[in-house]
Amino acid sequence: MPSNTLTITDNRTKEKYTIAIEDGAIRATDFRQIKNGQDDAGLMVYDPGLVNTASCRSRITYVDGENAKLEYRGYSVEDLAEHCGFLEAAYLLIYGDLPDEGQLKEWQREISHRTMLHQSTIEFTEGFRHDAHPMSMLVSTLSTLSTVYPEARNVQDPANRLHQMKRIIAKVATIAAISYRHSVGFPYVYPDNDLSYTENFMNMLWKMVEPKFAANPVLARALDALFILHADHEQNCSTNAMRSVGSSQSDPYLATSAAVAALSGPLHGGANEQVIKMLKAIGTADSVPAYLDKVKEGKARLPGFGHRVYRHCDPRAEIMKRIAERVFQVTGRNPKFDLALELEKKVQADGYFAEKRLFPNVDYYSGLIYEAMGFKPEIFTVLFAIPRSVGWLAQWDEMHRDAEQKIMRPRQIYVGEHNREFVPIEKRKAGQGLKA
Ligand code: CMC
Repeated sequence: MPSNTLTITDNRTKEKYTIAIEDGAIRATDFRQIKNGQDDAGLMVYDPGLVNTASCRSRITYVDGENAKLEYRGYSVEDLAEHCGFLEAAYLLIYGDLPDEGQLKEWQREISHRTMLHQSTIEFTEGFRHDAHPMSMLVSTLSTLSTVYPEARNVQDPANRLHQMKRIIAKVATIAAISYRHSVGFPYVYPDNDLSYTENFMNMLWKMVEPKFAANPVLARALDALFILHADHEQNCSTNAMRSVGSSQSDPYLATSAAVAALSGPLHGGANEQVIKMLKAIGTADSVPAYLDKVKEGKARLPGFGHRVYRHCDPRAEIMKRIAERVFQVTGRNPKFDLALELEKKVQADGYFAEKRLFPNVDYYSGLIYEAMGFKPEIFTVLFAIPRSVGWLAQWDEMHRDAEQKIMRPRQIYVGEHNREFVPIEKRKAGQGLKA
C-alpha cells in the first residue's frame, strides 16, 4: 500500500477504500465511490464556511497560520511593504515576478493611462444620494463598467483578460475618489499621470484649488505599504466570491463588483470601520474592562480581532503598528491609538480571549492610521478594496488558466420535507413562517 494514501472503512457496509493523498489533501470527489447501496449517490463532504476545503491550487499567496507568515509569490510581505511601491507589488501579484526598471516604468504608464472614467460613468455616480455609503457606490459603479467595456466578456482570451485587469486596477481608485468627493459635495478631480498610484489617489481625494497636488511623501509611502499589506490574502470570503462569480465566465467588472460586495461585510473588510465605532463607544481606557465583560456576555464583539487562518497573530497587524508610528510623526498621534493598544493588552492578558485565539488582525490598526491621515471611517473599507482588486484579479486570471477549475457549484444536505400533499389556498391554514 503506498504511504501517501488514506484507507477508509465504511462501517455501514464494511467496505474498505483507498484514497490518494496529494499535497496534504484528498479529493472530495474520491468520496463519491463510497456508497451505502445502489441508489446512494455517494458520500459528500460537509463543510459550512469551507473551513477545511481547498478550492484551488494557487501560486499567488501563501499564508502559514501557525507561524504567522504571509508571502506574495514567495516574497515576504514585510520585505515588499518595506521596499516596494504599490504598483511594483501589484506587478508581482499579477505577473508572478518582480519587475525590472523598464517593466515597472511600462506598467506604471499602462496603469496611469487607464485611470480616466468614461463620462457616462461619472454621470452615473451623480445619481447617488449624498449620504450613500462609498462601498455601495463602488459595487454599483464597478459593475457599470461592464456596460462600457462589453468586450470584457471574452474571458477566454488571456490578452483581453490582462487588458481588463489593467483597466480595473487603474479605475478602481478613480471610482473610489469620485465616490468620496460626491459624498462631501466637492467637484471631481481628474487623475494626474505624473504622480504615483497612491499620490494620484490622494490628489483625486484631496486636491482643492492648488494648481498641482503635492502629497506628503511619508504619507504616500505609508499608503503604499498599507496597500501592499491589503493586496491579497489567498482564499478569503471576497476572493472566493471573485472566483465563484468568475467561474461562470461572467466578466471581470461584475466579478470584481461581487468581490467588493463580499468585502463590505463587518466580518471581512468592513471590520476596519467597525473598529473606530467600537473605540468611540468605549471612549476611555477605564471603560475597557466593562466592554470586555459585554463581549464575554455575548452582547458585543471585538471587530478587528480574530482570524480564520492565523492562530497566534496576524503579521500584517504587527507591520501596521510600525507604519502607524511613522504616520503619527507627520499627522500627530491618533488619540484612539493608545486606547487601541490598551484594549489589545487587556484582551491578550485575559484567558477567555486567549482560549478563543483573539488577537488584532489587519483591520484593527488600519483605520486608526487612515483616520490620522484624514480619511473618514466610511471610506476605510474602500481603502481595502482598492489594493485587494489586484489580488482578486490575479486569482481570477489564475482560475481561468487552471484546467481543473469548473463552475463553482457546491452540494447541500437536504433536510427539508418530502411528498407534501398540495392544499388549495382556500383550505390552507396559516403557516408558522420564519421565526425572528
Ligand atoms: N469578537 C468576539 N468573539 C469572537 C471574535 C471577535 N472578534 N472572533 C471570534 N470570536 C469568538 C466566536 O464567537 C467563537 O466563539 P464560540 O467558540 O464561543 O462560538 C470563537 O471566537 C471562534 O470564532 P469563529 O467566529 O468561529 O471564527 P471564524 O473563523 O468563523 O471567524 C472572523 C473569523 C475573522 C470572522 C472572526 O474572528 C470575527 O468575527 N472577527 C471580527 C471581525 C473582523 O475583524 N474581521 C476581519 C478579519 S481579517 C481581515 C479580513 O479578512 O477582512
